[in-house]
Amino acid sequence: MKKTDTQNNVMEEIISLAKRRGFIFQGSEIYGGLAGTWDYAPLGVALKNNIKNLWWKRFVSDREDMYGMDAAILMNQNVWKASGHVDTFADPLVEDLKTSRRYRADHLLEAAGIDPKGMKLADMDAAIKKHGIKSPDGHPVGEVRHFKMMFKTHVGAIEDDAAISYLRPETAQGMFVNFKNIVDTFHPKLPFGMAQIGKAFRNEIAPRDFTFRTREFEQMEIEYFVAPSDWEKIFEHFRQQVHAFTDDIGLPNTKVHELEVADEDRAHYSKRTIDFEFDYPFGKKELYGLAYRTDFDLKAHADKSTVDLSYFDEEAKTRFVPHCIEPSFGVDRTVLAVLTDAYTEDSMAGEKRVFLKFKPSVAPVKVAVFPLLKNKPDLVAKAREVYNQIRKVIPQTMFDDNGNIGKRYRRQDEIGTPLCVTVDFDTIEQGTGVTVRDRDTGVQQRVPLENLIAYLSDKLN
Ligand code: GAP
Repeated sequence: MKKTDTQNNVMEEIISLAKRRGFIFQGSEIYGGLAGTWDYAPLGVALKNNIKNLWWKRFVSDREDMYGMDAAILMNQNVWKASGHVDTFADPLVEDLKTSRRYRADHLLEAAGIDPKGMKLADMDAAIKKHGIKSPDGHPVGEVRHFKMMFKTHVGAIEDDAAISYLRPETAQGMFVNFKNIVDTFHPKLPFGMAQIGKAFRNEIAPRDFTFRTREFEQMEIEYFVAPSDWEKIFEHFRQQVHAFTDDIGLPNTKVHELEVADEDRAHYSKRTIDFEFDYPFGKKELYGLAYRTDFDLKAHADKSTVDLSYFDEEAKTRFVPHCIEPSFGVDRTVLAVLTDAYTEDSMAGEKRVFLKFKPSVAPVKVAVFPLLKNKPDLVAKAREVYNQIRKVIPQTMFDDNGNIGKRYRRQDEIGTPLCVTVDFDTIEQGTGVTVRDRDTGVQQRVPLENLIAYLSDKLN
């Protein structure tokens, strides 16, 4: 589907704000960039860390059945042979016959209003020919073929086939290959899960839509091992947990949609997949996935490595290979969903205002503290004292004395700070406390200093 001018404009505004205010920069910008890479700046890192921490809390620290991991990105090439990625991890590609530029065949079909879901390479090829679909530059395109998406590299000093390794395209395999280590070390009872957050890499043919489709990104994944007869119950549990997590980070449930993925569109390892799609400004697109990976991966690694990856159930006195439910969350797509959802324009005091309406739990700065004037040492000293007290309880607090108070409010609104505390002359002369301004309403409330931390904490919850 073609994007409207309004959708494009909103994305341009968000990308510009992300750069101007220090959330996300283009990767390698001073050299003209590197397509499909983005660099997170201080506020982007804080936003991303808040999201990752909320995920880790919900899925790891608040549970007794989850084992956290941080596996190596580079793995033995046999991992990717066994998992099926070396043979099958590919996207459909066409080449512009004039410019040699490469495009995703399914994207060209979508742009022409044809749904590519369920189509094999030959079907896409036939549809492109039948409808005379051209490249975005208006030139004919060649045959649709597979393009392998894993980044290949060599490990060590000799560049032969034995030294081939890949940058992992999913974090999942780092958990499957450690299944036995976790069982031998912690002796968990089924069902139990392994969870990790880490980088993944895919040589996407057409990175696009800001951080939505990139070549380097982060995933938060769980491989949850179950007895085969339990898979539906646990699948349902994680379906609900995905929604609970989107609530944690403030995404409205009206913008999160479930899509039951058809047999022919599922990954080779999955017997059931639900995609969770989000209403981005550029359309309804995949945010997360939930897959029933069966015993595909453990069996494949047991076969290839010849290491037994079965589990002995003490109560039932049976040995079997556990099945796996996999909720998979993209960090960068989450940041983008949160950013685009939070982006708000309104008018305040007769002026147009742009602000990020973050849920406080994800806001990179929760509280900003100002002295009313920056050239009055008494005000500055008191504001610093208040700032240091708040920071002990609410660490994501910042001190801001740049520009006048109006500019500071605008800046804090643009970075989505829920609360601004101003120390003024009444604070030091009358002892009447400080003003606390609410980002969304602009309303200011006078709060005595002795109640300030309780008041702020309450507002942020
Ligand atoms: N282990 C399963 C797996 O990797 P996936 O649907 O290919 O499944 C999971 O990826 C999630 O990773 C997606 O739902 C998305 O959030 C994120 N993701 C995948 N490719 C991405 C890309 N090129 N750029 C940013 N995020 C991506």
